[in-house]
Amino acid sequence: MPPSGRPLIVMAMEAEAAPVRSALNLETPAEKLHPAFSSKIWESPRVCLVLNGEDRRYGVDSIASQPAAITSLLAIERDRPSLVISAGTAGGFVNRGGHIGQVCLADSCYFHDRRIPLEAFDAYGNGNYPVVDLGDVGTSLGFQLGAVSTGNALDAPEADLAKMDSYQAVAKDMEAAAVAWVCEQFDIPFTALKVITDLVDSDESTAEQFVSNFEIATQRLGDATKEFIELITTEGEDYAIRT
Ligand code: ADE
Repeated sequence: MPPSGRPLIVMAMEAEAAPVRSALNLETPAEKLHPAFSSKIWESPRVCLVLNGEDRRYGVDSIASQPAAITSLLAIERDRPSLVISAGTAGGFVNRGGHIGQVCLADSCYFHDRRIPLEAFDAYGNGNYPVVDLGDVGTSLGFQLGAVSTGNALDAPEADLAKMDSYQAVAKDMEAAAVAWVCEQFDIPFTALKVITDLVDSDESTAEQFVSNFEIATQRLGDATKEFIELITTEGEDYAIRT
């Protein structure tokens, strides 16, 4: 399939995606991407959004790295987007000026929990995937630029915190690096846009902060994604990406 020229937004939770779809007028019915997987897509001439869908056994959103990689692969194969954006909520860091509702745009992207101290596997584990430079766009919208760091746990043990400190992570999520790895295989520009629901390095429980701040953060995510998409796409025949 030829490149669609549209950006593709990859998300994990339905409750995060609903305000984003509404802000972007993605009101068409969802279409399934593969008979064996729950991944689904919404599209408009300007932008596409994909969601991992519900886990068929546990009946919850399929969060974390494997579903993110599968959904990204299926959506990229179908649409050949010009840019892929991993969007969602994330943990932030008081130590680096983070606050609830802060919008973060990736300038780098790592895994923080793939500890493999075996020569070159160490760097492979960390990932450090290519991220497209959209710093000027992010700064003009008041977004915090920095490293987005991915792991398969909501909590953050000491070893993970030390790894995230080493590259001064501003956002801790459960999907971005998996999406970034797929984009690297296809040579498609990648970034991540995350809104902070909880502060990882505070004394309060991450899960409690996540629940209490979820609604405010996802509303902010909807607005921020719309502002971002409007700034990077030019209305025209193919909504070309402006980088
Ligand atoms: N999503 C929202 N908060 C998170 C956290 N603290 N860790 C991973 N993913 C998150």
